[in-house]
Parts: sequence; structure tokens; C-alpha cells
Amino acid sequence: MSNITRADFDRYEMGVYNPAPFIPVKGKGSKFWDQDGNEYIDFAAGIAVCALGHCHPEIVKALQEQSEKLWHISNYMCTEPALKLAKYLVESTFADKVFFANSGGEANEAALKIARRYAFNKYGADKDIIISFENSFHGRTLFDVTVGGQAKYRDGFGPLPGNIVHVPFNDLEAFKQVINDKVCAVMIEPIQGEGGIIPADKEFLQEVRNLCNQHNALLIYDEVQTGFGRVGKFFAYEYYNVVPDILTSAKGLGAGIAIGAMLTTNEIAESFKPGVHGTTFGGNPLATAVACKSYELVNQPEFLKGVEEKAKLFNEKYQALNNKYNCFKEIRGAGLLIGAQLKDESKLKEVTSACLKHGLFLLTAGHDVVRTVPALNITNEEIEAGFAKYDEALAEVFGK
Ligand SMILES: Cc1ncc(COP(=O)(O)O)c(C=O)c1O
Repeated sequence: MSNITRADFDRYEMGVYNPAPFIPVKGKGSKFWDQDGNEYIDFAAGIAVCALGHCHPEIVKALQEQSEKLWHISNYMCTEPALKLAKYLVESTFADKVFFANSGGEANEAALKIARRYAFNKYGADKDIIISFENSFHGRTLFDVTVGGQAKYRDGFGPLPGNIVHVPFNDLEAFKQVINDKVCAVMIEPIQGEGGIIPADKEFLQEVRNLCNQHNALLIYDEVQTGFGRVGKFFAYEYYNVVPDILTSAKGLGAGIAIGAMLTTNEIAESFKPGVHGTTFGGNPLATAVACKSYELVNQPEFLKGVEEKAKLFNEKYQALNNKYNCFKEIRGAGLLIGAQLKDESKLKEVTSACLKHGLFLLTAGHDVVRTVPALNITNEEIEAGFAKYDEALAEVFGK
């Protein structure tokens, strides 16, 4: 065994996380193992990132093959994997153009910047207000935390970018109070992720779209968590049937490798000219080669149908747990983005810690929600094994 231990985190890494007491060293499908050989079932998939589980053989092959061809060349030249991925994304969405970044936060930063620049070019400097929603999460750049609807992520980082307005999610009357001709963009997660797996109401989203049209404001969907097959459609806007002007993707897109993308129409894309925006690593050949393979596996009718079938099984299993322990107030979400809201929010940490102790990795969202975002290809056997552990953990927390 290596001499690297969990104590090295406290000694050498900045304490922005509070990692588990063990160190995972190997993963396969929806299972992983720690340094001591203990096995875990993974219902978290690296926070909705490992869409195809750990070390999927075709993804490994795509990375290996690209790693022997070309790693990085800079954006002075284009590369085959990035062009192929851009074509895939354009051909399967509303968008005409793609900008590649390295993370969800960066994709959102690009989306917010292009929205302001587009309004500036077309309507002048006065149209710069951005509306977003309380409880939302859009990443960690200064612009992202300011647009994000959770004060704890922006407090103490001022001065912050200005003219950003937050309104309660799913509250049409509040939204009508703030939308006007000075608004350049509205940013929304179709289903709030970090905030507690809260789906937008369909009528609300449709009305936001209509009001954006009326006021020439761009509608930006942050699909970093909801996209790439997570809800049983390629993107959640298909699930809602309400199309945005700009969409951001990351997480599952790279199946575990760092990549982000911002998608938009030709007209809006015109606002990003050479030099206006960019990144050294965005669209890197290794990341885009992996994302191409991930796309080829995920964006298939059979695969997406499988996501819905697995979601059904997860919901049945959750209902069975709730029948036994009566601990959940609501089980909600879409596809394999599942939030189980606890009746007693003080038990949240205890539940996820007990699960981990029994060998099941789950996440939290908001202050009272257990978040389940497994790999999209998790097997029925892995689901059964995970819920057996879940059952043991809940018995420990709530009594049999
Ligand atoms: C909806 C949403 N947007 C943006 C982000 C930020 O993505 P990243 O951590 O890759 O910057 C996240 C991350 O959890 C997210 O869930």
C-alpha cells in the first residue's frame, strides 16, 4: 500500500472540502474500492460526472488512442476531436455554435459574458441586467457566484459584478416584477441541483421564455447537471419542450474528464470574435476525444430509454424505503437526478454518513435533501446492492 494517507489532505491541500476518511484508488462501473480494499456502491458518480461509470472500456480506449496521437496544440489550430464534438452537439441540439471551456463554472462565465456583450452590441450599454433565481448554483467564478442564488458562496468576495437581480424560483409574479427592457439575460437551471433538486414548473419556464422574448432578453439554461442524458433526454430543455438561447453543459459531457461547453445560435455567437473570449485548455484533444465517445454512447434512443427505466427502479426502491422508515417528505426530480427530501433535516449528514459507513456513496443537496445521481448505465444488480446498504444505513439512523 502507498504511504499516502487522508492526513496528507489536511497537511497539503487547501481546506475547501471535507473529504471522507478513506481514499478511493480504483473504480469499475458503479463500484469503487479504497486503499484497504473496501468496496462501495456509487450513487453519486463524481457529482453527476461519471455518466458511464468508472473506467468504461470504450472511454478508456478513446483516451488511450488520443493520448498516443496529440495531447495539446493550442487554439491557434483546430483539432479533429474538438471539431467532431462541436458537430455532434450542434446536430443534436437547438444550437449552431459551440464554445469549449474546462468546467461548468467556466461555461457559465462564458454564457454570462456573451449575453452581456450581445446586448451591448445590439442595444447599447444600458441593457445589462441579469435575472437569476434564489437557491440556484452556477459555479465558482466571481460572476457565477454573484449570479448564483446563494449568498454563502459570494459573501466576503466583493466588490461583485453589478446589476444582477435574484427572484424566488417558480414564482412568476416575482419574475414579472423585475423583467423589463433593461434585462439582457435570465439564467436558470431547469431543475435546481445543488439547491435541492427542485424542478422548474413547466408553465413557469414557458412564461419566462415568453417574457424573455417580449423584452429581448436571452434565456440561458445552466444544464451542467441536468444535461447529457441525466433526465432521460439528451438535455432537459427537451423534457420541458422550452428552448433556450444559450445552454451550458459540463459534468457528464466528459464522463469524468474536465470539459465544459457553451452552446448558442449563430446570431448570438457573432458577439464572440477573436480575442473577445478564450481559454488555453478549452476543447483540448484528450477531453474532446473522450467526450465524443461519451456522446456516441449516451445520445442513443435505447440508452436514454434505459435511463428512464433505471429511474423507475430507483423511484420504486425509494418508495419501499419510505414505506419502511417514513423518513422522506418528498421524492422528486427527473430521470436519474433524484432528490429525497428528509422530514427531519437535522438527520441529513447522519444519513449520508451512515450510508458511506455501510458502503454506499450518496450526496446531499440543499439543507434537507439526499441527492442520488448515479452513472446513467448503472446496472440493476448495482442498484439492488446499493439499496440493500441504504436499508441498513436507514435502520441504523431511524431504527427498524
Ligand atoms: C448547475 C451547475 N452549474 C454549474 C456548476 C459548476 O460546475 P463546475 O464545478 O464544473 O465549475 C455546477 C456544479 O455542481 C452545477 O451543478
